[in-house]
Amino acid sequence: MSVATACANIALVKYWGKRDAGLNTPAAGSLSLTLDSLRTFTQVELTDAEEDTLSLGGKPVTGRPVARITAFADLVRAMAGRKERVAVRSQNSFPTAAGLASSASAFAALAVATADAFGVALSPKELSILARRGSGSAARSIFGGFVLMHGGSASDGQDAFAEPLEGIPLTFSAAVAAARAEEKKIGSTDGMDLTRDTSPYYAAWIDCVNRDLGTAQAALREGDISRLAEIVEGNCLAMHANAMAARPGIIYFGPSTLWAIQEVRAMRAEGTPVFFTIDAGPHVVAFTPPEHLEQVAARLEGHPEVAEVITSPVGDGAHLVERMP
Ligand code: DP6
Repeated sequence: MSVATACANIALVKYWGKRDAGLNTPAAGSLSLTLDSLRTFTQVELTDAEEDTLSLGGKPVTGRPVARITAFADLVRAMAGRKERVAVRSQNSFPTAAGLASSASAFAALAVATADAFGVALSPKELSILARRGSGSAARSIFGGFVLMHGGSASDGQDAFAEPLEGIPLTFSAAVAAARAEEKKIGSTDGMDLTRDTSPYYAAWIDCVNRDLGTAQAALREGDISRLAEIVEGNCLAMHANAMAARPGIIYFGPSTLWAIQEVRAMRAEGTPVFFTIDAGPHVVAFTPPEHLEQVAARLEGHPEVAEVITSPVGDGAHLVERMP
């Protein structure tokens, strides 16, 4: 039996579009920060059962999530030349009711635990490639801190992996304004495909990502928070503009989203170094140096549609642990 933990990550330059659906390779690179407070623990046990099984937070799950686990475990079974089924137990350290469940932490933890359970020794780069097959953003959660995902161009997907960015002179904590939202309506996989197939802005978006990857890394290395804020917010809004321009338009924002954007910008105008980003849901993530976190988090609590503000320091990479918490 193997147990692993991994943190979610939030992209500063977003992944929104696939090159190859089968290998789950991204159409471009991306850049993220791993967050400690949004953590998954996953236990993998090999069994002689007929089927793979999955429980989330202690509750048995069936259907599509199990099919995803089976497709993923098949990759590791093929590497190991073994046939056992897996019994997967997974649990998040944060309230999934807020709709923050992350495929990034889930598949990064699953990659580490499944490889270990089948006795397959993989390098961090190989684990990142494996995790990507489960979910693109999971490739980044293999690593802690700032992480760069390479979009790659190889037809076998072997150059589409993440690696940590070393020597960045900046540290950010995050305040996640978790909206009182139902489960997200359009998952990122479907949202990306619809955007690629129908949005008139898709090609411009991919060009935008390629530019932002270079300038965001330069701003990080120079410790230029103002420049970084402009790039990160611009990239996030370009992703959402692109998705909104799909047909039918995909709108992830909820009632508290625009409010939180305005609060973050108001704080910045008042002199607090803070900037926002938003993934495929209504929650706004504010990044700020740790000394400003408390003030930023308190401010983001002030909307009736914000269920809670989750704060987080930077997270570490995926790794094995002794047992489930
Ligand atoms: C908006 O990694 O969930 O969070 O590869 O289809 O599983 P799949 O997509 P996923 O997409 C993440 C989209 C995003 C942006 C990002 O994290 O880069």
